[in-house]
Amino acid sequence: MTRPRKLYVKSFGCQMNVYDSYRMADMLAPEGFAETAHLADADFVILNTCHIREKAAEKVYSELGRVAALKAKAAREGRRLTIAVAGCVAQAEGEEIIRRAPAVDLVFGPQSYHRLPQLLARAEHEGAVVDTEFPAEDKFDLLKAPSQKAIRARGVSAFVTVQEGCDKFCTFCVVPYTRGTEVSRPVSKILAEIDRLADAGVREITLIGQNVNAYHGEGPDGTAWTLGRLLERVADLPGVARLRYTTSHPGDMDASLIAAHRDLPSLMPFLHLPVQSGSDHVLKRMNRRHTRAGYLETIARVRAAQSKMAFSSDFIVGFPGESEDDFRATLSLVDEVGYASAFSFKYSPRPGTPAAEASDQVPDDVKSERLYRLQGAIDRQQAAFNARCLGRIFDVLFEKPGRYPGQIVGRSPYVQPVQVMAPQTMIGGIAAVKVTEIASNSLFGAFADDGADAEPMLMEA
Ligand code: 5AD
Ligand code: SF4
Repeated sequence: MTRPRKLYVKSFGCQMNVYDSYRMADMLAPEGFAETAHLADADFVILNTCHIREKAAEKVYSELGRVAALKAKAAREGRRLTIAVAGCVAQAEGEEIIRRAPAVDLVFGPQSYHRLPQLLARAEHEGAVVDTEFPAEDKFDLLKAPSQKAIRARGVSAFVTVQEGCDKFCTFCVVPYTRGTEVSRPVSKILAEIDRLADAGVREITLIGQNVNAYHGEGPDGTAWTLGRLLERVADLPGVARLRYTTSHPGDMDASLIAAHRDLPSLMPFLHLPVQSGSDHVLKRMNRRHTRAGYLETIARVRAAQSKMAFSSDFIVGFPGESEDDFRATLSLVDEVGYASAFSFKYSPRPGTPAAEASDQVPDDVKSERLYRLQGAIDRQQAAFNARCLGRIFDVLFEKPGRYPGQIVGRSPYVQPVQVMAPQTMIGGIAAVKVTEIASNSLFGAFADDGADAEPMLMEA
């Protein structure tokens, strides 16, 4: 019997890349590839890349330097190491990648990974291959399902892509160009995928999409279903204890989705709702299609439907034309909402996007200073939110061994890691935990004697 070839996939960037990396491994498993966590063992390396900011894209080239050195070493030992670049840098830069990094054998975009076995065979027999087409066929129909063993190895919380691409065209963002226009998967396909995951023991499902709440996939009745309706149906599936979805656009928080937060106990009371800026002038130039007041009203409506809600967001500082007053409007919005956590970034001009052409770019030192101030405000809010968790009882879904021997770690409804002294056999289970200690971004807890009051707490802003 021949030795299985070893596959090493490294994901950069967002959760969809994590999902796509698994799908690539699933496409290659029937071809005799076994996954390895060690780059040095690999016969085939795939870097699944992110193009959202310049730094993310540059990381790929430094990683490629390391992998190219391994390829040369393998060749000296008479072994072949094949290198592929996948994902959004591949889509955006195509052949340029092979020019900059000639050791690369294969470049393919996010819409081509269902063809991976054929592309690999071509690259190995004919030399460098670049495939950045947006093919007519539906890649989801052609993907291979993971084995039950593979699902179990990936843990109790899983992502399921329900929607891909974006039609919003925010002026800073590469996503509409790298991931294409919005496409929603049919309800039946999503349910079948979740059924398989639940059968293998997955307890938490996060429905993902670049603009997930714009979901409008075909339902079994032939009409387009909203995300709220889809969530309601998924919540009925046996075995699925927790539901989440990400990433949402404020303009697409419709009544059905807000009602789902009110009606579905398994839908976690946590919403990542990127606002990007608190200034209407900046929001307009970003083409965000929502105002500050509109965003705050949406938050208020979600809170009114579900009092246990907590929120997170993404922010960009130093967008072209952002004044000190605009930036202060962002700080005041942060104050007004009271986030549980948030991500913030310096604006990074991306080739081909409208904002990159603007003449009033903000100097880097100003961006850095604003980022520092914003992150300080967010950190203080996160610390305050965590402090309010002390003494509370949460349901925790245990995911893996914890930081110290004897501990396991799980997630609270608000995605905070919670460390508990407990046997590893409890991984995959959900138990009521009382929070006994807070340390920067982790909570520590002990099993609550009485799970009856294991309710997410009331989250007042
Ligand atoms: N520069 C900085 N941040 C960006 N994001 C998207 N594009 C850019 C850019 N050009 C941020 C947004 C988005 C998150 C995923 O990345 O905040 O919500
Ligand atoms: Fe990018 Fe999100 Fe705007 Fe779409 S909605 S263009 S993915 S930032």
